[in-house]
Amino acid sequence: MAVKIGNIDLGEFPLLLAPMEDVSDPPFRFVCKQNGVDMMYTEFISSEGLIRDAAKSRQKLDIFEYERPIGIQIFGSDINTMREATEIASQAGPDLIDINYGCPVKNVACRGAGASLLQDIDKMTAMTKAVVDATHLPVTVKTRLGWDDNTKNVYEVAERLQDVGIQALSIHGRTRAQLYKGQADWHLIREVKQNPRIRIPIFGNGDVDSVEKAAAWRMEYEVDGIMIGRASIGYPWIFREIKHFFHTGEYLPGPTIAERVAICRTHLKQSVEWKGEKTGIFEMRRHYANYFKGIPHFKEYRMKLVSLADIADIHAVLDEISEQFELEEA
Ligand SMILES: Cc1cc2nc3c(=O)[nH]c(=O)nc-3n(C[C@H](O)[C@H](O)[C@H](O)COP(=O)(O)O)c2cc1C
Repeated sequence: MAVKIGNIDLGEFPLLLAPMEDVSDPPFRFVCKQNGVDMMYTEFISSEGLIRDAAKSRQKLDIFEYERPIGIQIFGSDINTMREATEIASQAGPDLIDINYGCPVKNVACRGAGASLLQDIDKMTAMTKAVVDATHLPVTVKTRLGWDDNTKNVYEVAERLQDVGIQALSIHGRTRAQLYKGQADWHLIREVKQNPRIRIPIFGNGDVDSVEKAAAWRMEYEVDGIMIGRASIGYPWIFREIKHFFHTGEYLPGPTIAERVAICRTHLKQSVEWKGEKTGIFEMRRHYANYFKGIPHFKEYRMKLVSLADIADIHAVLDEISEQFELEEA
């Protein structure tokens, strides 16, 4: 059965790209979209930054037609600021607004935003209602299991936020206290999904990094879809591989060298178009090694790619890589 958020039809068992600060920008989203992701989010945007008109926050509002459906994610600690930020974000024309109640980072969570709202469900509920009332768009939420081991309250959080009108919930199977350590535990996510009161889609998030895991956890935890973050960094093919498996029951082979090279060219092009030549080239540097993970003797090429400042020179090295490794592949 197709999963729907408001009028947005995500198809059967959608795969979502997790919002990731400094990662899920338009160039990265472009390559994920090429690889079949069903729904994406911007990086999180500070509500305070938005209402102050800070350039960094504004820039994160950039979304493109081909990205739809896409959600803008906002966070904050003050309800009025969140209301105003919701109005600004809605004007940017996304398909939905997502609220971040999961960020564990100190200067977010310790300033009363992100995951810290998990310690004050009344305020979280009031904030969510304010956001829902401030926009004509569907509102979704991304959160964690709870603040720490003693307060895993996502079951109650899900009910209360559904009651004030959110239309989907993504749950990262860790507490705030866990940060990114240990393993994600999806048992509570299943409990939320099985709650007979819950009608909205529940998306599972945390540690999905292979086709096998996606297939096994889909069955075991009965979620409506899966959100993937870190495993897509340097490997956006994970979306097409999982989708292919669900459609055919067969495993796609991994990307060829030609595909790895092609994705570097595309990502670089998008990066330069969106950020300008200098920043675009510079920020692309951290991606090359990821796209060639597992390819032996890549280091020499990586060193070249991250030192060059001219687009033509970078393409020339990518040509070299194609020739060198395609021969080996054949
Ligand atoms: C570099 C990085 C940046 C992140 N930024 C955000 C963010 O802006 N908003 C958010 O809700 N979660 C953010 N997260 C959390 C991810 O969305 C996701 O919940 C988490 O990485 C677990 O999923 P995964 O195991 O598939 O990566 C970030 C995670 C990473 C690794």
